[in-house]
Amino acid sequence: LIPVKSALAPACYRSAVPRRIEPYRIKVVEPIPFPDAGARRRALEAADWNVFRIPADLVTIDLLTDSGVTAMSAHQWGSLFDGDEAYAGSQSFQRFERVVRDLTGLPHVIPTHQGRAAERLLFEALVTRGDVVPGNTHFDTTRANIEYFGARAVDLPCAEAADRALEAPFKGNADVAALERVLASGDRVPLVVMTCTNNSCGGQPVSLANLRAVRALCDRHGALLFIDAARFAENAWFIREREPGQGDRSPRNIARDLFSLADGCLMSAKKDGLVNIGGFVALRSADLAERVKRSMVLGEGFPTYGGLAGRDLEAMATGLQEVLDPAYLADRIGRVRALGDRLHAAGVPTVRPPGGHAIYVDARAFAPHLDPLDYPGQSLVCELYLHAGVRCVEVGQLMNGRPGPDGVEAPVAQDLVRLAIPRRVYTTSQLAYVADAVIELYEARERLRPLEIVDQPHALRHFSAKLRPRASVDDGARDAARAGAGGGGL
Ligand code: F0G
Repeated sequence: LIPVKSALAPACYRSAVPRRIEPYRIKVVEPIPFPDAGARRRALEAADWNVFRIPADLVTIDLLTDSGVTAMSAHQWGSLFDGDEAYAGSQSFQRFERVVRDLTGLPHVIPTHQGRAAERLLFEALVTRGDVVPGNTHFDTTRANIEYFGARAVDLPCAEAADRALEAPFKGNADVAALERVLASGDRVPLVVMTCTNNSCGGQPVSLANLRAVRALCDRHGALLFIDAARFAENAWFIREREPGQGDRSPRNIARDLFSLADGCLMSAKKDGLVNIGGFVALRSADLAERVKRSMVLGEGFPTYGGLAGRDLEAMATGLQEVLDPAYLADRIGRVRALGDRLHAAGVPTVRPPGGHAIYVDARAFAPHLDPLDYPGQSLVCELYLHAGVRCVEVGQLMNGRPGPDGVEAPVAQDLVRLAIPRRVYTTSQLAYVADAVIELYEARERLRPLEIVDQPHALRHFSAKLRPRASVDDGARDAARAGAGGGGL
Protein backbone atom coordinates (compact mmCIF):
# COMPACT_ATOMS: atom_id res chain seq x y z
CA LEU A 1 0.00 0.00 0.00
CA ILE A 2 1.11 3.54 -0.75
CA PRO A 3 1.37 5.62 2.42
CA VAL A 4 -1.01 8.53 2.48
CA LYS A 5 0.20 11.97 3.41
CA SER A 6 -2.89 13.82 2.24
CA ALA A 7 -4.79 15.69 4.92
CA LEU A 8 -7.87 14.27 3.21
CA ALA A 9 -7.28 10.85 4.67
CA PRO A 10 -8.79 10.09 8.04
CA ALA A 11 -6.08 10.26 10.70
CA CYS A 12 -6.58 6.65 11.74
CA TYR A 13 -5.83 5.46 8.20
CA ARG A 14 -3.20 7.99 7.26
CA SER A 15 -0.40 5.49 6.80
CA ALA A 16 -2.46 2.48 5.79
CA VAL A 17 -4.84 3.40 2.97
CA PRO A 18 -3.79 4.17 -0.58
CA ARG A 19 -4.70 7.57 -1.88
CA ARG A 20 -7.42 8.26 -4.46
CA ILE A 21 -9.18 4.95 -4.56
CA GLU A 22 -12.83 4.46 -3.77
CA PRO A 23 -13.40 2.90 -0.31
CA TYR A 24 -15.86 0.40 -1.78
CA ARG A 25 -16.05 -2.11 -4.61
CA ILE A 26 -18.93 -2.47 -7.05
CA LYS A 27 -21.39 -5.31 -6.53
CA VAL A 28 -24.26 -4.37 -8.84
CA VAL A 29 -23.98 -2.38 -12.06
CA GLU A 30 -26.42 -0.51 -14.24
CA PRO A 31 -25.64 0.35 -17.89
CA ILE A 32 -25.58 4.05 -18.76
CA PRO A 33 -27.04 5.34 -22.04
CA PHE A 34 -24.91 6.88 -24.79
CA PRO A 35 -27.34 8.74 -27.08
CA ASP A 36 -25.45 10.12 -30.10
CA ALA A 37 -25.25 13.83 -30.95
CA GLY A 38 -28.35 13.68 -33.17
CA ALA A 39 -30.40 11.94 -30.49
CA ARG A 40 -29.28 14.50 -27.89
CA ARG A 41 -30.27 17.40 -30.15
CA ARG A 42 -33.68 15.85 -30.85
CA ALA A 43 -34.19 15.20 -27.12
CA LEU A 44 -33.33 18.79 -26.19
CA GLU A 45 -35.59 20.22 -28.88
CA ALA A 46 -38.44 17.94 -27.86
CA ALA A 47 -37.82 19.08 -24.25
CA ASP A 48 -38.07 22.76 -25.30
CA TRP A 49 -34.52 23.49 -24.06
CA ASN A 50 -35.42 22.46 -20.53
CA VAL A 51 -33.40 19.47 -19.29
CA PHE A 52 -35.99 18.62 -16.61
CA ARG A 53 -38.13 17.50 -19.55
CA ILE A 54 -35.53 15.10 -20.97
CA PRO A 55 -36.16 11.38 -20.22
CA ALA A 56 -33.38 9.98 -18.00
CA ASP A 57 -32.63 7.19 -20.48
CA LEU A 58 -31.24 9.87 -22.81
CA VAL A 59 -28.76 11.17 -20.21
CA THR A 60 -25.22 9.77 -20.01
CA ILE A 61 -24.10 11.33 -16.71
CA ASP A 62 -26.88 12.79 -14.58
CA LEU A 63 -25.73 15.60 -12.27
CA LEU A 64 -29.15 17.25 -11.96
CA THR A 65 -29.16 16.60 -8.22
CA ASP A 66 -27.47 14.67 -5.42
CA SER A 67 -30.90 14.03 -3.86
CA GLY A 68 -32.45 10.57 -3.79
CA VAL A 69 -29.96 9.27 -6.37
CA THR A 70 -27.56 7.59 -3.93
CA ALA A 71 -26.27 4.06 -4.49
CA MET A 72 -27.27 2.04 -1.43
CA SER A 73 -24.76 -0.30 0.19
CA ALA A 74 -25.05 -4.08 0.34
CA HIS A 75 -25.83 -3.63 4.05
CA GLN A 76 -28.70 -1.24 3.22
CA TRP A 77 -30.16 -3.56 0.59
CA GLY A 78 -29.89 -6.38 3.12
CA SER A 79 -31.63 -4.33 5.81
CA LEU A 80 -34.66 -3.91 3.52
CA PHE A 81 -35.53 -7.51 4.33
CA ASP A 82 -35.67 -6.62 8.01
CA GLY A 83 -38.42 -4.08 7.31
CA ASP A 84 -41.27 -4.54 9.77
CA GLU A 85 -44.40 -3.25 8.05
CA ALA A 86 -46.58 -2.97 11.16
CA TYR A 87 -48.83 0.09 10.91
CA ALA A 88 -47.95 1.34 14.39
CA GLY A 89 -44.78 1.01 16.49
CA SER A 90 -42.89 -1.25 14.07
CA GLN A 91 -39.47 -2.61 15.04
CA SER A 92 -38.06 -0.73 12.06
CA PHE A 93 -39.32 2.52 13.57
CA GLN A 94 -37.79 1.62 16.91
CA ARG A 95 -34.41 0.97 15.32
CA PHE A 96 -34.64 4.17 13.25
CA GLU A 97 -35.58 6.16 16.34
CA ARG A 98 -32.61 4.75 18.29
CA VAL A 99 -30.20 5.64 15.49
CA VAL A 100 -31.49 9.22 15.14
CA ARG A 101 -31.52 9.78 18.90
CA ASP A 102 -27.98 8.49 19.17
CA LEU A 103 -26.84 10.66 16.25
CA THR A 104 -28.57 13.91 17.24
CA GLY A 105 -29.24 13.67 20.97
CA LEU A 106 -32.79 14.83 20.11
CA PRO A 107 -35.37 12.65 21.89
CA HIS A 108 -38.45 13.08 19.68
CA VAL A 109 -38.05 11.55 16.23
CA ILE A 110 -40.74 11.83 13.55
CA PRO A 111 -40.20 10.24 10.12
CA THR A 112 -41.47 11.93 6.96
CA HIS A 113 -41.41 10.89 3.31
CA GLN A 114 -38.82 13.58 2.46
CA GLY A 115 -37.34 16.87 3.63
CA ARG A 116 -40.03 19.24 2.44
CA ALA A 117 -42.71 17.27 4.31
CA ALA A 118 -40.67 17.78 7.49
CA GLU A 119 -40.50 21.51 6.70
CA ARG A 120 -44.22 21.80 6.16
CA LEU A 121 -45.05 20.01 9.42
CA LEU A 122 -42.61 22.03 11.49
CA PHE A 123 -43.61 25.42 10.09
CA GLU A 124 -47.29 24.59 10.43
CA ALA A 125 -46.67 24.04 14.15
CA LEU A 126 -44.38 27.03 14.73
CA VAL A 127 -45.02 29.81 12.24
CA THR A 128 -47.91 32.26 11.93
CA ARG A 129 -48.76 35.04 9.49
CA GLY A 130 -46.44 38.05 9.77
CA ASP A 131 -43.53 36.12 11.40
CA VAL A 132 -39.97 36.38 10.15
CA VAL A 133 -37.80 33.27 9.76
CA PRO A 134 -34.12 34.11 9.18
CA GLY A 135 -31.35 31.70 8.24
CA ASN A 136 -27.93 31.46 6.60
CA THR A 137 -29.75 30.79 3.26
CA HIS A 138 -33.00 28.87 2.97
CA PHE A 139 -33.29 26.13 0.35
CA ASP A 140 -36.14 26.85 -2.14
CA THR A 141 -38.63 24.42 -0.56
CA THR A 142 -37.84 25.74 2.93
CA ARG A 143 -38.52 29.29 1.76
CA ALA A 144 -41.70 28.22 -0.07
CA ASN A 145 -43.02 26.42 3.03
CA ILE A 146 -42.26 29.40 5.30
CA GLU A 147 -44.05 31.72 2.86
CA TYR A 148 -46.96 29.29 2.57
CA PHE A 149 -47.75 29.94 6.24
CA GLY A 150 -47.64 33.71 5.70
CA ALA A 151 -44.19 34.33 7.19
CA ARG A 152 -41.20 36.06 5.60
CA ALA A 153 -38.08 33.95 4.90
CA VAL A 154 -34.93 36.07 5.23
CA ASP A 155 -31.51 34.97 3.93
CA LEU A 156 -28.53 36.27 5.89
CA PRO A 157 -25.39 34.69 4.36
CA CYS A 158 -22.01 35.89 5.63
CA ALA A 159 -20.23 38.59 3.61
CA GLU A 160 -17.62 36.14 2.21
CA ALA A 161 -20.36 34.20 0.41
CA ALA A 162 -20.88 37.08 -2.04
CA ASP A 163 -17.33 36.78 -3.38
CA ARG A 164 -17.49 33.67 -5.51
CA ALA A 165 -13.74 33.46 -6.10
CA LEU A 166 -12.74 33.92 -2.44
CA GLU A 167 -11.07 30.89 -0.84
CA ALA A 168 -12.55 30.98 2.67
CA PRO A 169 -13.21 27.97 4.93
CA PHE A 170 -16.80 28.60 6.06
CA LYS A 171 -18.65 30.54 3.37
CA GLY A 172 -21.88 28.83 4.47
CA ASN A 173 -21.96 30.81 7.74
CA ALA A 174 -24.70 33.25 8.70
CA ASP A 175 -24.01 36.97 9.08
CA VAL A 176 -24.28 37.19 12.86
CA ALA A 177 -24.55 41.00 13.04
CA ALA A 178 -27.36 41.00 10.44
CA LEU A 179 -29.12 38.23 12.37
CA GLU A 180 -28.92 40.28 15.55
CA ARG A 181 -30.57 43.21 13.76
CA VAL A 182 -33.44 40.99 12.56
CA LEU A 183 -33.90 39.49 16.04
CA ALA A 184 -33.94 42.94 17.63
CA SER A 185 -36.25 44.47 15.01
CA GLY A 186 -39.45 43.83 16.93
CA ASP A 187 -40.77 41.32 14.38
CA ARG A 188 -41.79 37.97 15.83
CA VAL A 189 -39.05 35.43 15.05
CA PRO A 190 -40.18 31.97 16.20
CA LEU A 191 -37.12 30.17 14.84
CA VAL A 192 -33.85 30.53 12.96
CA VAL A 193 -32.91 27.85 10.39
CA MET A 194 -29.24 27.08 9.73
CA THR A 195 -28.77 25.00 6.57
CA CYS A 196 -25.67 22.75 6.84
CA THR A 197 -24.07 22.68 4.34
CA ASN A 198 -25.47 25.80 2.70
CA ASN A 199 -26.79 24.43 -0.60
CA SER A 200 -27.90 27.76 -2.08
CA CYS A 201 -24.46 29.29 -1.34
CA GLY A 202 -22.46 26.66 -3.21
CA GLY A 203 -22.64 23.74 -0.75
CA GLN A 204 -20.34 25.66 1.61
CA PRO A 205 -20.05 24.58 5.25
CA VAL A 206 -21.06 26.30 8.49
CA SER A 207 -18.54 26.38 11.37
CA LEU A 208 -19.27 25.30 14.93
CA ALA A 209 -18.18 28.79 16.02
CA ASN A 210 -20.86 30.38 13.80
CA LEU A 211 -23.51 27.98 15.09
CA ARG A 212 -22.54 28.80 18.68
CA ALA A 213 -22.83 32.53 17.98
CA VAL A 214 -26.27 31.99 16.39
CA ARG A 215 -27.30 29.87 19.39
CA ALA A 216 -26.30 32.65 21.80
CA LEU A 217 -28.38 35.18 19.83
CA CYS A 218 -31.38 32.83 19.74
CA ASP A 219 -31.14 32.39 23.53
CA ARG A 220 -30.96 36.15 24.07
CA HIS A 221 -34.01 36.82 21.88
CA GLY A 222 -36.14 33.79 22.70
CA ALA A 223 -36.00 32.17 19.24
CA LEU A 224 -35.59 28.45 18.58
CA LEU A 225 -32.64 27.23 16.51
CA PHE A 226 -33.22 24.52 13.90
CA ILE A 227 -30.67 22.85 11.64
CA ASP A 228 -31.57 21.85 8.10
CA ALA A 229 -29.35 18.80 8.29
CA ALA A 230 -29.67 17.49 4.70
CA ARG A 231 -25.84 17.44 4.36
CA PHE A 232 -24.81 17.35 8.03
CA ALA A 233 -22.10 14.71 7.57
CA GLU A 234 -20.41 16.64 4.76
CA ASN A 235 -20.57 19.73 6.99
CA ALA A 236 -19.01 17.76 9.86
CA TRP A 237 -16.16 16.62 7.60
CA PHE A 238 -15.38 20.20 6.57
CA ILE A 239 -15.34 21.22 10.27
CA ARG A 240 -12.87 18.42 10.93
CA GLU A 241 -10.67 19.59 8.05
CA ARG A 242 -10.91 23.33 8.60
CA GLU A 243 -11.95 24.42 12.08
CA PRO A 244 -9.12 24.92 14.59
CA GLY A 245 -8.96 22.14 17.18
CA GLN A 246 -11.29 19.75 15.32
CA GLY A 247 -8.76 17.84 13.19
CA ASP A 248 -8.52 14.73 15.34
CA ARG A 249 -12.20 14.37 16.19
CA SER A 250 -14.50 11.85 14.56
CA PRO A 251 -17.23 13.10 12.20
CA ARG A 252 -19.75 11.51 14.57
CA ASN A 253 -18.57 13.55 17.55
CA ILE A 254 -18.54 16.73 15.48
CA ALA A 255 -22.04 16.01 14.20
CA ARG A 256 -23.19 15.49 17.79
CA ASP A 257 -21.81 18.91 18.73
CA LEU A 258 -23.65 20.44 15.79
CA PHE A 259 -26.98 18.93 16.82
CA SER A 260 -26.39 19.68 20.52
CA LEU A 261 -26.63 23.40 19.67
CA ALA A 262 -30.11 23.05 18.15
CA ASP A 263 -33.67 22.76 19.40
CA GLY A 264 -34.37 20.43 16.53
CA CYS A 265 -33.50 19.49 12.99
CA LEU A 266 -35.14 19.02 9.63
CA MET A 267 -33.72 16.25 7.50
CA SER A 268 -33.93 15.26 3.87
CA ALA A 269 -32.39 11.80 4.15
CA LYS A 270 -32.18 11.69 0.33
CA LYS A 271 -28.79 13.35 0.78
CA ASP A 272 -26.73 12.37 3.84
CA GLY A 273 -29.20 9.63 4.83
CA LEU A 274 -27.83 7.76 1.77
CA VAL A 275 -31.30 6.66 0.68
CA ASN A 276 -33.57 7.18 -2.30
CA ILE A 277 -36.51 8.44 -0.24
CA GLY A 278 -37.03 9.56 3.36
CA GLY A 279 -36.67 12.33 5.88
CA PHE A 280 -37.48 13.28 9.45
CA VAL A 281 -37.99 15.99 12.05
CA ALA A 282 -36.22 15.54 15.40
CA LEU A 283 -37.13 17.74 18.33
CA ARG A 284 -36.08 18.55 21.88
CA SER A 285 -39.55 19.67 22.99
CA ALA A 286 -42.15 17.01 23.82
CA ASP A 287 -44.91 19.57 23.44
CA LEU A 288 -43.84 20.61 19.95
CA ALA A 289 -43.47 16.93 18.99
CA GLU A 290 -47.07 16.29 20.07
CA ARG A 291 -48.33 19.14 17.91
CA VAL A 292 -46.40 17.90 14.87
CA LYS A 293 -47.61 14.32 15.37
CA ARG A 294 -51.22 15.42 15.67
CA SER A 295 -51.21 17.27 12.37
CA MET A 296 -49.13 14.75 10.41
CA VAL A 297 -51.80 12.05 10.39
CA LEU A 298 -53.68 14.04 7.75
CA GLY A 299 -50.86 14.02 5.21
CA GLU A 300 -47.89 11.83 6.13
CA GLY A 301 -49.65 9.08 8.05
CA PHE A 302 -49.15 7.60 11.50
CA PRO A 303 -46.13 9.08 13.35
CA THR A 304 -44.18 5.81 13.40
CA TYR A 305 -44.04 5.48 9.61
CA GLY A 306 -44.47 9.02 8.26
CA GLY A 307 -45.21 8.27 4.61
CA LEU A 308 -42.59 5.52 4.40
CA ALA A 309 -42.51 1.73 4.42
CA GLY A 310 -40.82 -0.04 7.34
CA ARG A 311 -38.07 -1.14 4.96
CA ASP A 312 -37.37 2.52 4.07
CA LEU A 313 -36.85 3.26 7.77
CA GLU A 314 -34.36 0.36 7.94
CA ALA A 315 -32.39 1.66 4.95
CA MET A 316 -32.37 5.17 6.40
CA ALA A 317 -31.17 3.96 9.82
CA THR A 318 -28.30 2.09 8.16
CA GLY A 319 -27.47 5.01 5.82
CA LEU A 320 -27.30 7.49 8.71
CA GLN A 321 -24.64 5.29 10.31
CA GLU A 322 -22.64 4.64 7.14
CA VAL A 323 -22.46 8.30 6.15
CA LEU A 324 -20.21 9.13 9.11
CA ASP A 325 -17.52 6.63 8.08
CA PRO A 326 -14.32 8.72 7.76
CA ALA A 327 -13.18 6.72 4.72
CA TYR A 328 -16.49 7.42 2.95
CA LEU A 329 -16.43 11.15 3.77
CA ALA A 330 -12.78 11.60 2.79
CA ASP A 331 -13.55 9.99 -0.58
CA ARG A 332 -16.78 11.91 -1.07
CA ILE A 333 -15.44 15.38 -0.29
CA GLY A 334 -12.14 14.57 -2.02
CA ARG A 335 -13.72 13.57 -5.33
CA VAL A 336 -15.98 16.66 -5.49
CA ARG A 337 -12.92 18.76 -4.67
CA ALA A 338 -10.85 17.04 -7.38
CA LEU A 339 -13.49 17.88 -10.00
CA GLY A 340 -13.67 21.50 -8.79
CA ASP A 341 -9.89 21.92 -8.69
CA ARG A 342 -9.49 20.51 -12.19
CA LEU A 343 -12.06 22.96 -13.62
CA HIS A 344 -10.46 25.82 -11.69
CA ALA A 345 -6.99 24.95 -12.99
CA ALA A 346 -8.36 25.04 -16.56
CA GLY A 347 -9.69 28.57 -15.97
CA VAL A 348 -13.39 27.62 -15.73
CA PRO A 349 -14.99 30.18 -13.37
CA THR A 350 -16.47 28.34 -10.39
CA VAL A 351 -17.56 29.10 -6.84
CA ARG A 352 -14.52 28.55 -4.65
CA PRO A 353 -13.62 26.54 -2.72
CA PRO A 354 -15.47 23.45 -4.02
CA GLY A 355 -18.62 22.65 -2.03
CA GLY A 356 -19.44 19.34 -0.40
CA HIS A 357 -21.96 17.96 -2.86
CA ALA A 358 -21.57 20.01 -6.03
CA ILE A 359 -19.47 22.29 -8.17
CA TYR A 360 -21.12 25.57 -9.14
CA VAL A 361 -20.00 27.17 -12.41
CA ASP A 362 -20.38 30.95 -12.72
CA ALA A 363 -22.28 31.15 -16.02
CA ARG A 364 -22.02 34.92 -16.45
CA ALA A 365 -18.23 34.76 -16.24
CA PHE A 366 -18.26 31.61 -18.44
CA ALA A 367 -20.24 33.37 -21.20
CA PRO A 368 -19.66 37.12 -20.87
CA HIS A 369 -21.12 37.66 -24.35
CA LEU A 370 -24.56 36.80 -22.96
CA ASP A 371 -26.79 39.18 -21.03
CA PRO A 372 -28.42 37.86 -17.81
CA LEU A 373 -31.75 37.97 -19.64
CA ASP A 374 -30.29 35.64 -22.30
CA TYR A 375 -30.36 32.93 -19.56
CA PRO A 376 -26.61 32.20 -19.69
CA GLY A 377 -26.89 29.47 -17.03
CA GLN A 378 -29.59 27.61 -18.92
CA SER A 379 -27.64 28.08 -22.14
CA LEU A 380 -24.61 26.42 -20.52
CA VAL A 381 -26.78 23.58 -19.16
CA CYS A 382 -28.18 22.92 -22.66
CA GLU A 383 -24.81 23.08 -24.44
CA LEU A 384 -23.26 20.68 -21.92
CA TYR A 385 -26.03 18.20 -22.61
CA LEU A 386 -25.62 18.62 -26.37
CA HIS A 387 -21.85 18.24 -26.11
CA ALA A 388 -21.55 15.27 -23.78
CA GLY A 389 -24.95 14.04 -22.56
CA VAL A 390 -24.20 15.49 -19.11
CA ARG A 391 -27.27 16.87 -17.35
CA CYS A 392 -26.97 19.55 -14.67
CA VAL A 393 -29.14 22.39 -13.38
CA GLU A 394 -29.36 26.16 -13.69
CA VAL A 395 -29.51 28.14 -10.44
CA GLY A 396 -30.00 31.67 -11.73
CA GLN A 397 -32.28 33.75 -13.91
CA LEU A 398 -34.50 30.86 -14.97
CA MET A 399 -34.87 29.45 -11.45
CA ASN A 400 -35.07 32.71 -9.49
CA GLY A 401 -36.23 35.37 -11.95
CA ARG A 402 -39.82 36.33 -12.58
CA PRO A 403 -41.52 38.74 -14.99
CA GLY A 404 -42.63 42.02 -13.37
CA PRO A 405 -46.15 43.45 -13.77
CA ASP A 406 -45.06 44.88 -17.15
CA GLY A 407 -43.90 41.43 -18.29
CA VAL A 408 -40.22 42.44 -18.11
CA GLU A 409 -37.77 40.62 -15.82
CA ALA A 410 -35.09 42.23 -13.69
CA PRO A 411 -31.76 40.36 -13.64
CA VAL A 412 -31.24 38.23 -10.51
CA ALA A 413 -28.04 38.43 -8.45
CA GLN A 414 -26.17 35.57 -10.10
CA ASP A 415 -26.32 32.85 -12.72
CA LEU A 416 -24.82 29.60 -11.53
CA VAL A 417 -24.87 26.10 -12.97
CA ARG A 418 -24.74 23.27 -10.44
CA LEU A 419 -22.98 20.00 -11.16
CA ALA A 420 -24.34 17.94 -8.26
CA ILE A 421 -22.53 14.68 -7.56
CA PRO A 422 -24.68 11.69 -6.52
CA ARG A 423 -23.22 9.71 -3.62
CA ARG A 424 -21.28 6.48 -4.43
CA VAL A 425 -22.64 6.45 -8.01
CA TYR A 426 -20.06 7.71 -10.51
CA THR A 427 -16.48 6.48 -10.79
CA THR A 428 -13.38 8.64 -11.00
CA SER A 429 -13.17 8.14 -14.77
CA GLN A 430 -16.80 9.18 -15.24
CA LEU A 431 -16.16 12.39 -13.30
CA ALA A 432 -13.01 12.96 -15.39
CA TYR A 433 -15.27 12.69 -18.47
CA VAL A 434 -17.46 15.43 -16.98
CA ALA A 435 -14.43 17.65 -16.33
CA ASP A 436 -13.18 17.13 -19.91
CA ALA A 437 -16.63 18.03 -21.29
CA VAL A 438 -16.91 21.26 -19.25
CA ILE A 439 -13.36 22.31 -20.15
CA GLU A 440 -13.91 21.61 -23.87
CA LEU A 441 -17.09 23.65 -23.76
CA TYR A 442 -15.29 26.46 -21.97
CA GLU A 443 -12.71 26.55 -24.75
CA ALA A 444 -15.55 26.98 -27.26
CA ARG A 445 -17.72 29.15 -25.07
CA GLU A 446 -18.72 31.60 -27.79
CA ARG A 447 -20.98 28.76 -28.86
CA LEU A 448 -23.37 29.41 -25.97
CA ARG A 449 -26.42 31.08 -27.45
CA PRO A 450 -29.04 33.38 -25.96
CA LEU A 451 -32.28 31.69 -24.99
CA GLU A 452 -35.76 33.07 -24.53
CA ILE A 453 -38.76 31.73 -22.65
CA VAL A 454 -41.77 30.87 -24.78
CA ASP A 455 -44.03 29.49 -22.06
CA GLN A 456 -43.81 29.47 -18.28
CA PRO A 457 -45.96 28.58 -15.29
CA HIS A 458 -46.67 30.98 -12.46
CA ALA A 459 -44.27 29.51 -9.87
CA LEU A 460 -41.24 27.16 -9.85
CA ARG A 461 -40.88 27.85 -13.56
CA HIS A 462 -37.49 26.15 -14.04
CA PHE A 463 -39.11 22.72 -13.74
CA SER A 464 -41.46 23.12 -16.67
CA ALA A 465 -40.77 26.36 -18.62
CA LYS A 466 -40.35 26.05 -22.39
CA LEU A 467 -37.46 27.91 -24.03
CA ARG A 468 -35.84 28.29 -27.44
CA PRO A 469 -32.65 29.86 -28.84
CA ARG A 470 -33.14 33.50 -29.69
CA ALA A 471 -32.57 34.39 -33.31
CA SER A 472 -29.92 37.11 -32.94
CA VAL A 473 -27.42 38.42 -30.43
CA ASP A 474 -25.86 41.85 -30.17
CA ASP A 475 -22.91 41.69 -32.60
CA GLY A 476 -20.56 43.92 -30.59
CA ALA A 477 -20.90 41.76 -27.48
CA ARG A 478 -20.42 38.60 -29.48
CA ASP A 479 -17.26 39.93 -31.15
CA ALA A 480 -15.84 40.88 -27.75
CA ALA A 481 -16.55 37.39 -26.44
CA ARG A 482 -14.94 35.80 -29.50
CA ALA A 483 -11.82 37.89 -28.97
CA GLY A 484 -11.56 36.70 -25.37
CA ALA A 485 -12.59 33.10 -25.95
CA GLY A 486 -9.31 31.89 -27.40
CA GLY A 487 -10.88 29.80 -30.17
CA GLY A 488 -11.13 26.05 -29.70
CA GLY A 489 -13.90 23.82 -31.00
CA LEU A 490 -15.89 20.85 -29.95
N1 F0G B 1 -33.11 21.35 2.43
C1 F0G B 1 -32.03 21.36 1.62
C2 F0G B 1 -30.78 22.04 2.05
C3 F0G B 1 -32.12 20.74 0.35
O1 F0G B 1 -31.06 20.77 -0.45
C4 F0G B 1 -33.33 20.10 -0.01
C5 F0G B 1 -33.45 19.45 -1.31
C6 F0G B 1 -34.40 20.11 0.89
C7 F0G B 1 -34.25 20.75 2.10
C8 F0G B 1 -35.72 19.47 0.57
O2 F0G B 1 -35.62 18.10 0.70
O3 F0G B 1 -36.06 17.19 -1.59
O4 F0G B 1 -36.18 15.74 0.43
O5 F0G B 1 -37.91 17.44 0.02
N2 F0G B 1 -32.62 19.58 -2.23
C9 F0G B 1 -32.62 18.91 -3.52
C10 F0G B 1 -31.53 19.50 -4.39
C11 F0G B 1 -33.91 18.81 -4.21
O6 F0G B 1 -31.47 19.12 -5.59
O7 F0G B 1 -30.71 20.28 -3.90
P1 F0G B 1 -36.50 17.06 -0.17
